[in-house]
Amino acid sequence: MKRPDPSTVRKQYSRQAAAYDARWAAYLADSIGPTLEALAPVPGERILDLGCGTGMLLRKIAATSPTTVAWGVDLSAEMLRGSPGRDAVTGATLADAHHLPFGTGRFDAVVSTSSLHHWHDPRGALLEIGRVLKPRGRLVLTDWANDHLPTRIVSAVLRHTDASHFRSYTAREARRLLGAAGFETESTRLHRSGWKWGFFTIVATRSPDGSPHRAD
Ligand SMILES: C[S@@+](CC[C@H](N)C(=O)[O-])C[C@H]1O[C@@H](n2cnc3c(N)ncnc32)[C@H](O)[C@@H]1O
Repeated sequence: MKRPDPSTVRKQYSRQAAAYDARWAAYLADSIGPTLEALAPVPGERILDLGCGTGMLLRKIAATSPTTVAWGVDLSAEMLRGSPGRDAVTGATLADAHHLPFGTGRFDAVVSTSSLHHWHDPRGALLEIGRVLKPRGRLVLTDWANDHLPTRIVSAVLRHTDASHFRSYTAREARRLLGAAGFETESTRLHRSGWKWGFFTIVATRSPDGSPHRAD
């Protein structure tokens, strides 16, 4: 399977950044709402949004829990930059999920929406997330779910037509990836946006010593 390199992903999002929020408004509401609910930010904790894009989830975290300190990371400067009708993402860093510029044990929680399907080395990225999380820190991971047939078909087509797309997973496959990277799944929710997009939102906890977990 061909693996997208970061510059391909960057180019893809840099092209669509200005129109992203308007074009994907319904999709964003339907994917980010359940993610925020699962994340349930706690006042004072430090959260990292990985592949934060135009920062919609970061703004919602700030609105619902003003004393939570939330950072973002994304590959595309254009996604982070403001556009007409939208402020630039504050507290965000240009970086790759596979090489995070943060110290070990820095965050209470990491969250990511609709980004995993681009990661060319998902296990490596999940290990990197585990590194920057505190022991027992939580990861809330939302992405396209192959459990939903139309999404599985879209993903299969994109593998041949979109060089920035790597692959999507069933919730079970994602739990296994998480287990191998030292996360224990606490909950899984499957949800949808329209007829086409199916998502999983998985809440997982980093094991204290990063040791692998058996997933179902
Ligand atoms: C579909 S957008 C989702 C953006 C945002 N999370 C949302 O839900 O609107 C995917 C984002 O992931 C970012 N991304 C993809 N691969 C990445 C990587 N390896 N490291 C950091 N960001 C990445 C892209 O640049 C893009 O902004």
